[in-house]
Amino acid sequence: MHKAIISATGLFTPEQSVSNAELVAAYNAWADGWNAANAVAIEAGEVEAKSHSSEAFIEKASGIKSRYVMDKSGILDPERMTPHLAARTNDELSILADMAVRAARDAIASWGKPASEIGAVICAASNMQRPYPAMAIEVQQALGIDGFAFDMNVACSSATFGIKTAADFVASGSVKAVLMVNPEICSAHLNFKDRDSHFIFGDVATAVIIEAEDQAGPGGWDILGTRLQTSFSNNIRNNFGFLNKAALPTDGIEPVGSDGLTDKMFVQQGRKVFKEVVPMVSDMILSHAAELSLDPHGLKRLWLHQANINMNQLIGRKVLGRDPSPEENVIILDDYANTSSAGSIIAFHLHNEGFAPGETGLICSFGAGYSAGTVFVQKRP
Ligand code: COA
Repeated sequence: MHKAIISATGLFTPEQSVSNAELVAAYNAWADGWNAANAVAIEAGEVEAKSHSSEAFIEKASGIKSRYVMDKSGILDPERMTPHLAARTNDELSILADMAVRAARDAIASWGKPASEIGAVICAASNMQRPYPAMAIEVQQALGIDGFAFDMNVACSSATFGIKTAADFVASGSVKAVLMVNPEICSAHLNFKDRDSHFIFGDVATAVIIEAEDQAGPGGWDILGTRLQTSFSNNIRNNFGFLNKAALPTDGIEPVGSDGLTDKMFVQQGRKVFKEVVPMVSDMILSHAAELSLDPHGLKRLWLHQANINMNQLIGRKVLGRDPSPEENVIILDDYANTSSAGSIIAFHLHNEGFAPGETGLICSFGAGYSAGTVFVQKRP
């Protein structure tokens, strides 16, 4: 058995961002247009008028102030309400692989070794742009990596599942180093006409290099333990797939499900998710810590999935046994929103400073499936 460590991380942040004020203005303009177009039916009581969205609600309910996106103009156009993401030819690097390669180059630069020393690439993400060929294989080719590559999708938990998969490959001796990338174009799967969720997600890509300790230099993070858990739930869904293509209207954005909303893009029962996922994740963290003989109150920092401020604060409190300080429970969703699998890795990448060797922290993700993953790490000398 070889010990696996996290050697480096990388981040690609899109250039464009959308504030809550901009998002709400676009939604409200679209809602006003919809209400005008349906005035007779609204008057007859056949359909309900669309209410306005509100910046104050969004910030209070989610903690989100802004989000980065790959295309702002399409999202903010009330006539469109979906990003313009131009199709690329099969000879070009796909947009998802492009984002992943940028995050990967950042990680490889801080790793300080050539990409050719990587033996496998895993693309672990929620919002894949196609079934095959795997985006991971494109990334592998673009970076000149030998060996093998594949995609995996465990929704918002994809990154921790990817880290465990990579660590297991390293532990078994299959490869010496793995590049794990999390490119997420959440804006392409988000229904910007749904007031309940139009503010939740943003776009980003992250990368993590996991390698065998016996070939690593100083620095990085020991992986003390990893645990994965899944439990079926219908409360967060995205039904888009080839079987559903015929159900999509020509503009591809407003098939109506039984609840009046599309289920071909992201849709959730937010309150149920909150109530069910918080105890599931908190219990999992505490029992995994006990198994590793770690005192959870002694963790220096939590890098949780960036779901929503209230959910993250509650999990932080349950794990640390006190109200965590902002340094202890890292929040980046005010700037980035929920970025699905990438959220906990952005938090880890941007805020891992100030650790003495031996101090411990937790990377944790949770989301649709339901799915959850814990990765306890310890700073190396
Ligand atoms: N602007 C203004 N008001 C809004 C609104 C918006 N954009 N969206 C919803 N509202 C209104 C609702 O109509 C409702 O009004 P009512 O009380 O008059 O009926 C009220 O705000 C509360 O709506 P609700 O959907 O119950 O909000 P909430 O307080 O549960 O917050 C979430 C919504 C999603 C933020 C919350 O459920 C949550 O944190 N869930 C966790 C799930 C999550 O983060 N999932 C991500 C994937 S892991």
